[in-house]
Amino acid sequence: MSISTVNTSSTNITSNLDIASLRAQFPILSQTVRGKPLVYLDNGATTQKPEAVIAAIDAYYRECNSNVHRGAHYLSDEATARFEGARQRVADFLNAEREEIIWTRGTTESINLVASCYGASLKAGDEIIISTLEHHSNIVPWQMACARSGATLKVIPLLADGSLDMEGYRALLGARTRIVAVTHVSNALGTVTPIAEIIREAKAVGAVTLVDGAQAVSHFPVDVQALDCDFYVFSGHKLFGPTGIGVLYGRKALLEAMPPWLGGGEMIETVSFERSTWNRLPYKFEAGTPNIAGAIGLGAAIEWLQTQDRAALASHEAALLAEATTRAQAFTGMQLIGTAPGKVAVMSFLLDGAHPNDVGQLLDQQGVAVRTGHHCTMPLMDCLGIPGTIRASFSVYNDPMDIERLFNALEKVKTFL
Ligand code: ALA
Repeated sequence: MSISTVNTSSTNITSNLDIASLRAQFPILSQTVRGKPLVYLDNGATTQKPEAVIAAIDAYYRECNSNVHRGAHYLSDEATARFEGARQRVADFLNAEREEIIWTRGTTESINLVASCYGASLKAGDEIIISTLEHHSNIVPWQMACARSGATLKVIPLLADGSLDMEGYRALLGARTRIVAVTHVSNALGTVTPIAEIIREAKAVGAVTLVDGAQAVSHFPVDVQALDCDFYVFSGHKLFGPTGIGVLYGRKALLEAMPPWLGGGEMIETVSFERSTWNRLPYKFEAGTPNIAGAIGLGAAIEWLQTQDRAALASHEAALLAEATTRAQAFTGMQLIGTAPGKVAVMSFLLDGAHPNDVGQLLDQQGVAVRTGHHCTMPLMDCLGIPGTIRASFSVYNDPMDIERLFNALEKVKTFL
């Protein structure tokens, strides 16, 4: 692995990675958009896909497209082997058992599954704790569970830098707390929550824990046994894999006790017109033909990530964030939103006198892709007293030139506003 030092007029990042060859594995990054080199800084929304993932999906359709678990033929056996191999890869990635990995369409569906199926045991007087940082997908399913059961939703407050108020959390915990569902990393601000502590304290009052890992898994390794969480959820497409595939990790005993989610083929053991019985884990929660290509693509994405030096990737991202933050602090009229220590490489900001959407459009005209708006965290934006932000979210393949181009583009934006 080569050491590359990139020096531009204003960047000075030393990386232990060969970023040029890493970037070259992501075909989309080499294109120009609107006549400018693409600067892709919307990784919080979705990550780009390496050749290895594209090839795995392509190979599935070319070589063994077939349904899984059903066919008495070679293609079905081969598709099943690749599909279940991907599940095993996810299990190893999270340090879980294979039957504890349920395929879903994504983080949103995984949380809805838990809120519906585990949430079926909630009753009036029970309490569910979430945090101010949550994405709508970790708010609305719990509101729906509360409406069904009469349970109450409690919210961990926020500190000024965008970290969670742990004293506020402790004040909410009690004998009525049944579920604590908190994000591992804030999609809007990049805050990394003290999730191990949150889980430990939830367990001390007998609550079940769910961790929204959608924004975490691409940035650092996750070990569900070390965390001791009950549920951990994430989406494939934010982890260099395809859209439409996601993961629910659930502790085996809880999954076994939960009623099924959707009814249909595959999730049953026996069916008669009088009654049905359920399949074993993980199939009990997987009615219908699954997203076979998606699962195989996600398996390939994890395999690709496991061939990388993850510590070096994390240092590279930290260096990008440090450089972007230094540039932001020197940029007149720019206000950073969310400055919690140890955050991942997400830079949310405002420009004085400019609406975030206008800034986003002007950046797009210069080939710079960011997300603007409330980032599906309206309650967080309300708490911060702002309508939204401009969010530049970095990934492993971003390089110092992307930061240079972002700030050059922002200088131009200022002249338009
Ligand atoms: N949840 C994704 C984001 O933060 C879509 O952009």
